[in-house]
Amino acid sequence: MSDAPTTTPERDAHLAAATGAVLRADNLLAGYLPGVNILNGADLYCMPGELVGIIGPNGAGKSTLLKALFGLVTIHEGTVMLKDEDITNKRADELVTKGIGFVPQTNNVFPSLTIEENLEMGCYQAPKKFDDRFAFVTELFPTLGQRRKQRAGSLSGGERQMVAMGRALMMDPSVLLLDEPSAGLSPVMQDEVFVQTRKINQAGVSVVMVEQNAARCLQIADRGYVLDQGRNAYTGTGKQLATDPKVIELYLGTLGKSDDA
Ligand SMILES: Nc1ncnc2c1ncn2[C@@H]1O[C@H](COP(=O)(O)OP(=O)(O)OP(=O)(O)O)[C@@H](O)[C@H]1O
Ligand SMILES: [Mg+2]
Repeated sequence: MSDAPTTTPERDAHLAAATGAVLRADNLLAGYLPGVNILNGADLYCMPGELVGIIGPNGAGKSTLLKALFGLVTIHEGTVMLKDEDITNKRADELVTKGIGFVPQTNNVFPSLTIEENLEMGCYQAPKKFDDRFAFVTELFPTLGQRRKQRAGSLSGGERQMVAMGRALMMDPSVLLLDEPSAGLSPVMQDEVFVQTRKINQAGVSVVMVEQNAARCLQIADRGYVLDQGRNAYTGTGKQLATDPKVIELYLGTLGKSDDA
């Protein structure tokens, strides 16, 4: 297609570094309606054990990118690979069994179910895993074990986020996709979510995280992407991006200020 991005040295270098990635997306053109692309050539990769952050302005296509990786948005061109397997346009439930966990931004717990039942839902495709995975998740987040009989609807926003992440971990994913886990939380709970995300990553789970709290996200991310108008505007280590004058001027100035206020 004519609007497909052309090859550039930066792009070649980026993709060359993707060898061995657990998850990799090349040149995605994707959208909700035929002929209308929201992603206009986005690339992304996540190495085993990496924590990758995606930031960018509202409407840039960050959620669409995660949804495309998770089979919820149609990919018109480009490929998504999970290790050596082409998973482009595979169904979400299939992707869960193959090792992708996804935590959407909203409506990510069953409020009328208990914490334990929510975690059960996380491995309904493989109920035999429950005991082992419940032990893993509650070791990471002891509160979930202590309060296992409490209904998720009665929890605070931060606690619910913990349940949602716990649920996504129940299938032992190779990579966890998080869409704005800190959104709508108090500053203290936002901090808590970043600490939890780090803990999950340090437990060996590769993480791809979209965040509106851009500065904080880049602090904990090994690498990051700035997505703008459906394609990568900048990429680098979290530190490189956080200190890049152009990224600061264009993306962190306003995004960063609102977080630190
Ligand atoms: N279900 C949908 N149907 C049609 N268009 C959609 C749908 N969801 C999102 N879009 C459009 O896709 C574009 C990108 O939206 P997306 O939600 O991916 O952005 P985002 O970067 O996640 O923004 P935000 O920071 O506000 O969460 C927007 O123009 C939006 O209107
Ligand atoms: Mg979004």
